[in-house]
Amino acid sequence: MQGSFARKITYLRLSVTQQCDLACRYCRKGGEARGEELPWPALLRLASCAVQAGIDTVRLTGGEPLLREGCVDFLQELRPSVKRLGLTTNGTHLAAYASALAAAGINSVNVSLDTLDRKRFSEWTGRDLLPQVLEGIDEALKYRLPLKLNCVLLDDLTAAETEEFLSYAGSRALPLRFIELLPLAANDGRSGPTGELLRQRLTSLGYRLRPLENVFFGKGPARYYEVKKGDFTSCIGLIEALSNNFCSSCDRLRLDCRGRLYGCLYHRQHADLGELLAQGAEDEELVARIKKVSATKPRGHDFAAEPAPFSLAEVGG
Ligand code: 5AD
Repeated sequence: MQGSFARKITYLRLSVTQQCDLACRYCRKGGEARGEELPWPALLRLASCAVQAGIDTVRLTGGEPLLREGCVDFLQELRPSVKRLGLTTNGTHLAAYASALAAAGINSVNVSLDTLDRKRFSEWTGRDLLPQVLEGIDEALKYRLPLKLNCVLLDDLTAAETEEFLSYAGSRALPLRFIELLPLAANDGRSGPTGELLRQRLTSLGYRLRPLENVFFGKGPARYYEVKKGDFTSCIGLIEALSNNFCSSCDRLRLDCRGRLYGCLYHRQHADLGELLAQGAEDEELVARIKKVSATKPRGHDFAAEPAPFSLAEVGG
């Protein structure tokens, strides 16, 4: 589907719930509106209208999608309509769902994991659930689920832990992506290391980084590097949404669990597809509104000027 500023829009991130069993300090500010989730058939209809409009890839996000009952059935129903189907999860319930997710034919499962240190995990997320997440990852690997790790760059990430991440991911052949922390309301002005700082740190630890042109895992905006030190070789991705933004090639729309469709993570302008559904809109009208959001997608975010006044839990991760 045609987007503004000569971009092609093919990717929908669909937040299916705001519920989450973690309360990451940088993600939730508390007080997010609860409930009001559109029922699954309504979300399925909106997703299918998005496909009619030109979307070919859908990723479920939240909150934590696996906490909403019926999530795997929804994935199964959606599967035939899209080329690629993904899920982003915090991993706490991954062990229980790994086999069902594999059976659903999911193409990509991204696990958010910012630390391998149990104490730091509890501090950042408010819950002592690191062992469950690690078990979920190992269980998912047993079923050969296509996993990636997402690690938000937090200000207390040490060099030692960065190395531990490299060896943890490397020994499981898991693509590991480091994500710059975005200044959202929940952050309270907190900021994290940039991708450049991470590259410098790795270099000073003796790693050689070689940019991998034309290497992509899925459709995301990460830039990948081969990382080598002695016998150790691995691959990391950097998602530098702040210092090296990719807005000019952004191909995504975001639908929240209430049916609000956003053209950009940062800007609040949206179409209320949930309300249109409630008014009895036909598919044609919904498809037209989706195309309009795409055609009027903001040129880019403006995090550098001002933090966004909402949390990611509200819009979906
Ligand atoms: N900045 C950057 N990434 C964030 N995520 C959640 N909040 C932020 C933030 N403020 C990450 C999650 C997940 C992905 C969807 O977004 O950790 O991996």
